[in-house]
Amino acid sequence: WRLFSLLTVMTVFLSACGEEYISTLRPAGAVGKEQLDILILSIWIMTLVVVVVSAIYLVAFFKFRRTKVGENHMPKQVEGSHTLEVIWTVIPIILLIILAVPTLTYTYKFADVAAMDEVDEEGNKTALTVNVTAKLYWWEFEYPNQGIITAQELVVPTGEKVYFNLIASDVKHSFWIPAVGGKMDTNVDGINKFYLQFDKESAGLNDGEGVFYGKCAELCGPSHALMDFKVKALEPEAFNAWVTAMQATEGQTADRESSDIGEATFANSCLGCHAVSAVAGNGLGPNLTTFGDRNRVAGFMDHTVEDTTEWIMDGMEPESKLKPGNLMTGKYNVTPEEAKAISEYLMTLTVEK
Ligand code: CUA
Repeated sequence: WRLFSLLTVMTVFLSACGEEYISTLRPAGAVGKEQLDILILSIWIMTLVVVVVSAIYLVAFFKFRRTKVGENHMPKQVEGSHTLEVIWTVIPIILLIILAVPTLTYTYKFADVAAMDEVDEEGNKTALTVNVTAKLYWWEFEYPNQGIITAQELVVPTGEKVYFNLIASDVKHSFWIPAVGGKMDTNVDGINKFYLQFDKESAGLNDGEGVFYGKCAELCGPSHALMDFKVKALEPEAFNAWVTAMQATEGQTADRESSDIGEATFANSCLGCHAVSAVAGNGLGPNLTTFGDRNRVAGFMDHTVEDTTEWIMDGMEPESKLKPGNLMTGKYNVTPEEAKAISEYLMTLTVEK
Protein backbone atom coordinates (compact mmCIF):
# COMPACT_ATOMS: atom_id res chain seq x y z
CA TRP A 1 0.00 0.00 0.00
CA ARG A 2 2.81 2.32 0.92
CA LEU A 3 4.42 1.49 -2.41
CA PHE A 4 1.19 1.95 -4.31
CA SER A 5 0.43 5.38 -2.87
CA LEU A 6 4.02 6.44 -3.46
CA LEU A 7 4.04 5.21 -7.04
CA THR A 8 0.88 7.14 -7.78
CA VAL A 9 2.44 10.37 -6.56
CA MET A 10 5.79 9.59 -8.15
CA THR A 11 4.19 9.21 -11.55
CA VAL A 12 2.85 12.73 -11.29
CA PHE A 13 6.11 14.19 -9.95
CA LEU A 14 8.56 12.32 -12.15
CA SER A 15 6.66 12.95 -15.34
CA ALA A 16 7.83 16.53 -15.05
CA CYS A 17 11.36 15.71 -13.94
CA GLY A 18 12.81 13.77 -16.84
CA GLU A 19 16.32 12.47 -16.29
CA GLU A 20 17.40 15.21 -13.94
CA TYR A 21 17.95 14.27 -10.39
CA ILE A 22 15.63 16.71 -8.66
CA SER A 23 13.02 14.44 -7.10
CA THR A 24 11.86 14.99 -3.52
CA LEU A 25 10.74 11.34 -3.56
CA ARG A 26 14.27 9.97 -3.83
CA PRO A 27 15.89 11.93 -1.01
CA ALA A 28 19.68 12.11 -0.91
CA GLY A 29 20.21 13.37 2.60
CA ALA A 30 18.86 13.21 6.14
CA VAL A 31 16.82 16.40 5.85
CA GLY A 32 15.22 15.31 2.59
CA LYS A 33 14.38 11.91 4.10
CA GLU A 34 12.66 13.44 7.10
CA GLN A 35 10.73 15.83 4.89
CA LEU A 36 9.61 12.85 2.80
CA ASP A 37 8.44 11.10 5.99
CA ILE A 38 6.10 14.01 6.69
CA LEU A 39 4.91 13.94 3.09
CA ILE A 40 4.08 10.24 3.36
CA LEU A 41 2.37 10.73 6.72
CA SER A 42 0.15 13.45 5.27
CA ILE A 43 -0.65 11.24 2.26
CA TRP A 44 -1.72 8.45 4.64
CA ILE A 45 -3.95 10.83 6.60
CA MET A 46 -5.49 12.18 3.39
CA THR A 47 -6.03 8.63 2.11
CA LEU A 48 -7.71 7.66 5.38
CA VAL A 49 -10.03 10.68 5.17
CA VAL A 50 -10.93 9.95 1.54
CA VAL A 51 -11.61 6.26 2.27
CA VAL A 52 -13.74 6.89 5.35
CA VAL A 53 -15.73 9.74 3.81
CA SER A 54 -16.30 7.74 0.61
CA ALA A 55 -17.45 4.73 2.63
CA ILE A 56 -19.93 6.80 4.62
CA TYR A 57 -21.15 8.39 1.41
CA LEU A 58 -21.67 5.02 -0.30
CA VAL A 59 -23.47 3.57 2.72
CA ALA A 60 -25.78 6.57 2.85
CA PHE A 61 -26.28 6.44 -0.90
CA PHE A 62 -27.37 2.81 -1.00
CA LYS A 63 -29.03 2.44 2.37
CA PHE A 64 -31.33 5.42 2.03
CA ARG A 65 -32.19 5.27 -1.64
CA ARG A 66 -35.80 4.83 -2.64
CA THR A 67 -36.32 1.08 -2.89
CA LYS A 68 -39.92 0.80 -4.08
CA VAL A 69 -41.80 2.72 -6.71
CA GLY A 70 -44.11 5.15 -5.01
CA GLU A 71 -42.25 4.97 -1.68
CA ASN A 72 -42.04 8.51 -0.40
CA HIS A 73 -41.30 8.63 3.32
CA MET A 74 -38.44 10.67 4.81
CA PRO A 75 -35.76 8.71 6.68
CA LYS A 76 -35.02 9.58 10.30
CA GLN A 77 -33.45 13.07 10.51
CA VAL A 78 -30.33 13.60 12.62
CA GLU A 79 -30.12 17.42 12.67
CA GLY A 80 -28.76 18.76 15.95
CA SER A 81 -27.08 15.52 17.05
CA HIS A 82 -24.48 16.46 19.63
CA THR A 83 -22.82 13.07 19.37
CA LEU A 84 -22.27 13.46 15.63
CA GLU A 85 -21.02 17.02 15.94
CA VAL A 86 -18.53 16.05 18.61
CA ILE A 87 -17.30 13.16 16.49
CA TRP A 88 -16.72 15.24 13.34
CA THR A 89 -15.03 17.98 15.32
CA VAL A 90 -12.74 15.78 17.39
CA ILE A 91 -11.54 13.49 14.58
CA PRO A 92 -10.11 16.34 12.41
CA ILE A 93 -8.48 17.85 15.50
CA ILE A 94 -6.76 14.53 16.22
CA LEU A 95 -5.65 14.21 12.59
CA LEU A 96 -4.25 17.75 12.59
CA ILE A 97 -2.36 17.10 15.81
CA ILE A 98 -0.87 13.91 14.33
CA LEU A 99 0.34 16.02 11.39
CA ALA A 100 1.37 19.08 13.40
CA VAL A 101 3.63 17.40 15.94
CA PRO A 102 6.23 15.98 13.50
CA THR A 103 5.95 19.02 11.21
CA LEU A 104 6.75 21.45 14.02
CA THR A 105 9.42 19.15 15.44
CA TYR A 106 11.23 18.97 12.08
CA THR A 107 10.73 22.67 11.38
CA TYR A 108 12.50 23.63 14.59
CA LYS A 109 15.13 20.94 14.10
CA PHE A 110 16.15 22.17 10.64
CA ALA A 111 16.30 25.74 11.95
CA ASP A 112 18.69 24.77 14.75
CA VAL A 113 21.89 26.38 13.53
CA ALA A 114 23.65 26.85 16.87
CA ALA A 115 26.53 24.70 15.59
CA MET A 116 27.30 27.42 13.03
CA ASP A 117 29.06 29.42 15.71
CA GLU A 118 31.05 26.59 17.31
CA VAL A 119 34.82 27.01 17.15
CA ASP A 120 37.73 24.66 17.72
CA GLU A 121 40.71 25.30 20.00
CA GLU A 122 42.33 27.60 17.47
CA GLY A 123 39.19 29.67 17.11
CA ASN A 124 38.27 28.34 13.66
CA LYS A 125 34.64 27.63 12.90
CA THR A 126 34.09 23.86 12.86
CA ALA A 127 30.87 23.72 10.80
CA LEU A 128 30.83 24.39 7.08
CA THR A 129 28.83 27.52 6.34
CA VAL A 130 27.79 28.77 2.91
CA ASN A 131 26.43 32.27 2.38
CA VAL A 132 23.88 32.08 -0.41
CA THR A 133 22.93 35.24 -2.29
CA ALA A 134 20.05 34.95 -4.75
CA LYS A 135 20.11 37.41 -7.63
CA LEU A 136 18.12 37.99 -10.83
CA TYR A 137 18.57 35.20 -12.11
CA TRP A 138 21.54 33.39 -10.64
CA TRP A 139 23.07 32.24 -7.36
CA GLU A 140 26.25 33.21 -5.57
CA PHE A 141 27.81 30.87 -3.00
CA GLU A 142 30.38 32.28 -0.63
CA TYR A 143 32.33 30.08 1.78
CA PRO A 144 33.30 32.67 4.41
CA ASN A 145 35.59 30.41 6.44
CA GLN A 146 37.43 29.19 3.34
CA GLY A 147 37.53 32.62 1.70
CA ILE A 148 36.16 31.47 -1.66
CA ILE A 149 33.21 32.25 -3.92
CA THR A 150 31.42 30.34 -6.66
CA ALA A 151 28.40 31.10 -8.78
CA GLN A 152 25.78 28.73 -10.13
CA GLU A 153 27.66 25.81 -8.65
CA LEU A 154 27.37 24.75 -5.02
CA VAL A 155 30.00 22.22 -3.96
CA VAL A 156 29.52 20.50 -0.61
CA PRO A 157 31.01 17.61 1.38
CA THR A 158 28.98 14.49 2.08
CA GLY A 159 28.24 13.16 5.56
CA GLU A 160 28.16 16.41 7.54
CA LYS A 161 25.71 19.19 8.15
CA VAL A 162 26.17 22.13 5.80
CA TYR A 163 24.79 25.40 7.17
CA PHE A 164 23.32 28.09 4.96
CA ASN A 165 22.87 31.82 5.42
CA LEU A 166 20.29 32.83 2.84
CA ILE A 167 19.80 36.33 1.49
CA ALA A 168 18.63 38.00 -1.73
CA SER A 169 20.14 41.09 -3.30
CA ASP A 170 17.14 42.31 -5.33
CA VAL A 171 13.77 40.58 -4.91
CA LYS A 172 12.58 37.61 -2.91
CA HIS A 173 13.72 34.21 -4.18
CA SER A 174 13.63 30.77 -2.58
CA PHE A 175 16.44 28.25 -2.19
CA TRP A 176 15.46 24.69 -2.96
CA ILE A 177 17.39 21.51 -3.70
CA PRO A 178 14.46 19.13 -4.15
CA ALA A 179 16.44 15.92 -3.66
CA VAL A 180 18.20 17.16 -0.55
CA GLY A 181 15.76 19.46 1.23
CA GLY A 182 14.33 22.91 1.63
CA LYS A 183 12.83 25.12 0.54
CA MET A 184 13.68 28.31 2.37
CA ASP A 185 12.97 31.87 1.25
CA THR A 186 15.84 34.21 0.51
CA ASN A 187 14.74 37.68 1.57
CA VAL A 188 16.20 41.10 0.88
CA ASP A 189 15.84 42.37 4.44
CA GLY A 190 17.08 39.56 6.63
CA ILE A 191 19.09 36.35 6.73
CA ASN A 192 17.32 33.00 6.90
CA LYS A 193 19.36 30.11 8.23
CA PHE A 194 19.02 26.37 8.00
CA TYR A 195 21.09 23.30 7.30
CA LEU A 196 21.05 20.46 4.83
CA GLN A 197 22.84 17.15 4.82
CA PHE A 198 24.26 15.42 1.79
CA ASP A 199 24.61 11.77 2.69
CA LYS A 200 27.56 9.62 1.65
CA GLU A 201 25.38 7.34 -0.42
CA SER A 202 24.04 10.34 -2.28
CA ALA A 203 27.38 10.66 -4.03
CA GLY A 204 26.66 7.62 -6.14
CA LEU A 205 23.08 7.98 -7.20
CA ASN A 206 23.58 10.00 -10.33
CA ASP A 207 25.95 8.13 -12.64
CA GLY A 208 28.51 7.86 -9.89
CA GLU A 209 28.50 11.55 -9.16
CA GLY A 210 26.61 13.30 -6.42
CA VAL A 211 25.21 15.94 -8.74
CA PHE A 212 21.83 17.47 -8.04
CA TYR A 213 20.02 20.53 -9.23
CA GLY A 214 18.68 23.38 -7.18
CA LYS A 215 15.82 25.61 -8.17
CA CYS A 216 14.44 29.01 -7.32
CA ALA A 217 11.08 28.27 -5.72
CA GLU A 218 9.60 31.76 -5.49
CA LEU A 219 8.17 33.51 -8.54
CA CYS A 220 10.66 36.34 -9.00
CA GLY A 221 10.35 37.53 -12.59
CA PRO A 222 10.21 36.43 -16.24
CA SER A 223 13.20 34.07 -15.94
CA HIS A 224 12.26 32.57 -12.59
CA ALA A 225 11.94 29.10 -14.15
CA LEU A 226 15.51 29.33 -15.52
CA MET A 227 17.10 30.18 -12.17
CA ASP A 228 18.69 26.79 -11.60
CA PHE A 229 22.00 25.85 -10.03
CA LYS A 230 24.19 22.79 -9.88
CA VAL A 231 24.94 21.05 -6.59
CA LYS A 232 27.90 18.73 -6.37
CA ALA A 233 28.38 16.54 -3.29
CA LEU A 234 31.95 15.29 -2.84
CA GLU A 235 33.50 12.91 -0.36
CA PRO A 236 35.20 15.00 2.38
CA GLU A 237 38.71 14.44 0.98
CA ALA A 238 37.68 15.45 -2.52
CA PHE A 239 35.87 18.45 -1.09
CA ASN A 240 38.99 19.60 0.77
CA ALA A 241 41.01 19.21 -2.42
CA TRP A 242 38.45 21.32 -4.24
CA VAL A 243 38.67 24.05 -1.58
CA THR A 244 42.47 24.07 -1.86
CA ALA A 245 42.29 24.31 -5.65
CA MET A 246 39.79 27.16 -5.36
CA GLN A 247 42.01 29.03 -2.88
CA ALA A 248 44.93 28.60 -5.29
CA THR A 249 43.13 30.78 -7.84
CA GLU A 250 43.89 33.82 -5.70
CA GLY A 251 45.12 36.63 -7.91
CA GLN A 252 44.17 34.75 -11.09
CA THR A 253 43.00 37.13 -13.77
CA ALA A 254 42.51 37.38 -17.51
CA ASP A 255 45.36 39.08 -19.40
CA ARG A 256 44.39 42.02 -21.62
CA GLU A 257 47.54 41.49 -23.69
CA SER A 258 47.12 37.74 -24.04
CA SER A 259 47.79 36.17 -27.43
CA ASP A 260 44.63 34.17 -26.81
CA ILE A 261 41.95 36.31 -28.47
CA GLY A 262 39.30 34.85 -26.18
CA GLU A 263 41.18 35.73 -23.01
CA ALA A 264 42.15 39.22 -24.23
CA THR A 265 38.59 40.01 -25.36
CA PHE A 266 37.22 38.64 -22.10
CA ALA A 267 39.64 40.83 -20.15
CA ASN A 268 38.57 43.92 -22.06
CA SER A 269 34.84 43.25 -22.27
CA CYS A 270 33.76 41.05 -19.38
CA LEU A 271 36.23 41.37 -16.50
CA GLY A 272 34.51 44.49 -15.21
CA CYS A 273 31.63 42.36 -13.95
CA HIS A 274 32.93 38.78 -13.90
CA ALA A 275 35.86 37.51 -11.85
CA VAL A 276 38.02 34.50 -12.78
CA SER A 277 39.44 34.04 -9.27
CA ALA A 278 37.48 32.35 -6.50
CA VAL A 279 39.13 34.66 -3.96
CA ALA A 280 38.05 37.79 -5.81
CA GLY A 281 35.13 38.87 -3.67
CA ASN A 282 31.64 39.67 -4.84
CA GLY A 283 31.15 40.57 -8.45
CA LEU A 284 28.38 42.28 -10.38
CA GLY A 285 28.06 39.16 -12.50
CA PRO A 286 28.56 35.50 -11.71
CA ASN A 287 32.07 34.42 -10.72
CA LEU A 288 33.41 32.33 -13.60
CA THR A 289 36.39 30.62 -11.93
CA THR A 290 34.82 27.17 -12.34
CA PHE A 291 33.06 27.80 -15.65
CA GLY A 292 34.74 24.77 -17.25
CA ASP A 293 33.53 22.52 -14.41
CA ARG A 294 29.90 23.44 -14.76
CA ASN A 295 27.48 21.30 -16.67
CA ARG A 296 25.18 24.06 -17.75
CA VAL A 297 25.51 27.57 -19.08
CA ALA A 298 23.40 30.36 -17.55
CA GLY A 299 21.64 27.72 -15.44
CA PHE A 300 19.74 26.04 -18.25
CA MET A 301 21.71 25.89 -21.54
CA ASP A 302 24.02 23.09 -22.63
CA HIS A 303 27.59 23.33 -21.41
CA THR A 304 29.08 23.71 -24.89
CA VAL A 305 31.06 26.36 -26.76
CA GLU A 306 28.13 26.74 -29.16
CA ASP A 307 25.58 27.48 -26.44
CA THR A 308 27.99 29.74 -24.56
CA THR A 309 28.58 31.72 -27.75
CA GLU A 310 24.84 31.99 -28.34
CA TRP A 311 24.41 33.17 -24.77
CA ILE A 312 27.10 35.85 -25.10
CA MET A 313 25.63 37.10 -28.38
CA ASP A 314 22.18 37.20 -26.77
CA GLY A 315 23.72 39.38 -24.09
CA MET A 316 24.43 42.15 -26.58
CA GLU A 317 20.77 42.57 -27.41
CA PRO A 318 19.02 45.30 -25.44
CA GLU A 319 16.56 42.63 -24.26
CA SER A 320 17.63 39.05 -23.70
CA LYS A 321 15.61 36.53 -25.68
CA LEU A 322 17.12 33.47 -23.99
CA LYS A 323 16.75 34.59 -20.36
CA PRO A 324 14.43 37.60 -20.28
CA GLY A 325 15.18 40.14 -17.56
CA ASN A 326 18.76 39.06 -16.96
CA LEU A 327 21.11 41.96 -16.27
CA MET A 328 23.97 41.02 -18.64
CA THR A 329 22.32 42.51 -21.71
CA GLY A 330 23.71 45.47 -23.64
CA LYS A 331 26.91 45.85 -21.62
CA TYR A 332 29.60 45.05 -24.20
CA ASN A 333 30.15 44.60 -27.89
CA VAL A 334 31.97 41.67 -29.44
CA THR A 335 31.81 39.93 -32.81
CA PRO A 336 30.49 36.37 -33.12
CA GLU A 337 34.10 35.18 -33.69
CA GLU A 338 35.24 36.92 -30.52
CA ALA A 339 32.26 35.49 -28.61
CA LYS A 340 33.28 32.01 -29.72
CA ALA A 341 36.87 32.67 -28.64
CA ILE A 342 35.62 33.88 -25.25
CA SER A 343 33.55 30.71 -24.90
CA GLU A 344 36.58 28.56 -25.67
CA TYR A 345 38.60 30.51 -23.10
CA LEU A 346 35.86 30.13 -20.47
CA MET A 347 35.86 26.36 -20.94
CA THR A 348 39.52 26.31 -19.86
CA LEU A 349 38.60 27.85 -16.47
CA THR A 350 38.52 24.82 -14.21
CA VAL A 351 39.70 23.71 -10.79
CA GLU A 352 38.59 20.08 -11.00
CA LYS A 353 40.63 18.79 -13.92
CU1 CUA B 1 14.43 33.65 -8.30
CU2 CUA B 1 12.35 32.65 -8.81
